[in-house]
Amino acid sequence: MMDYLEVSKKGVKPPKFEKVPKHVAIVMDGNGRWANKRGLTRIEGHKAGEAALLDVVAGAIEAGVSELTVFAFSTENWKRSPEEVRFLMGFNKDVLRARRDQLNHWGVKVRWVGRRPKLWASVIDELEAAQALTNRNKVLTLTMCVNYGSRIEIVDAVNEIALLAAKKKIKPGSITEKSFGKMLSTNPLGDVDLFIRSSGEKRISNFLLWQSAYAELVFSEVLWPDFDRKQLWASIAEYSTRQRRFGGAIDSPKAKPVK
Ligand code: IPE
Ligand code: IPE
Ligand code: MG
Repeated sequence: MMDYLEVSKKGVKPPKFEKVPKHVAIVMDGNGRWANKRGLTRIEGHKAGEAALLDVVAGAIEAGVSELTVFAFSTENWKRSPEEVRFLMGFNKDVLRARRDQLNHWGVKVRWVGRRPKLWASVIDELEAAQALTNRNKVLTLTMCVNYGSRIEIVDAVNEIALLAAKKKIKPGSITEKSFGKMLSTNPLGDVDLFIRSSGEKRISNFLLWQSAYAELVFSEVLWPDFDRKQLWASIAEYSTRQRRFGGAIDSPKAKPVK
């Protein structure tokens, strides 16, 4: 894998965007289908997804994105075959170990968000080592969602709040949207601006439900191993064309009437 700066020197530059999203979230989907289409096992598809992630991180830095949150393993993915789960655990660990110096060199701050129960201790160790190594970096925060599920994240926050209320540390009735958001495991990350899913599936699959309440959704047909910085930039270009109203309205009677 070439260093991303070398790639940039070859003239692969991001276009000028009207608007750059601050926080981009990606469901990295389609590894299995990519592999099976080539007569390969699903595992080969996951292996091919590593380069895609690295290229997208590089492309996010070049585009000026400051927060990139990626779905690497969901709380539902335990339903897969024991072989695939075992591979994914080992693979996550190996990728983190192999790439942390490169990410650190790029100024990426790695963060893990997800649940501890069931997750392999060796994976948690690598995630925490990558976090410690890159903790002071400021170019881009790369949040790896490993053993993450949005509903359970919300339920965990509710349980935490109930406990605090039982201990009389917070008053029932005093929770606000803002204070609730701070109880979520993604905190201090804020709302998602651009939510991308590769592979043609058009669903959220329990990823960042609260955080994406007003995200712009972009669904790409490209399978994750074929995704790269250019696909990311195309998604950002699509985002740039969207008018975000957040429930408000813009009156422009001088605009061309629709025929
Ligand atoms: C995404 O690719 C990777 C993980 C969920 C870990 P998939 O493995 O879901 O690939 P498809 O959707 O079966 O093609
Ligand atoms: C979502 O993809 C999880 C990750 C990409 C890690 P899935 O492939 O697991 O989602 P479904 O099964 O298509 O909803
Ligand atoms: Mg999938």
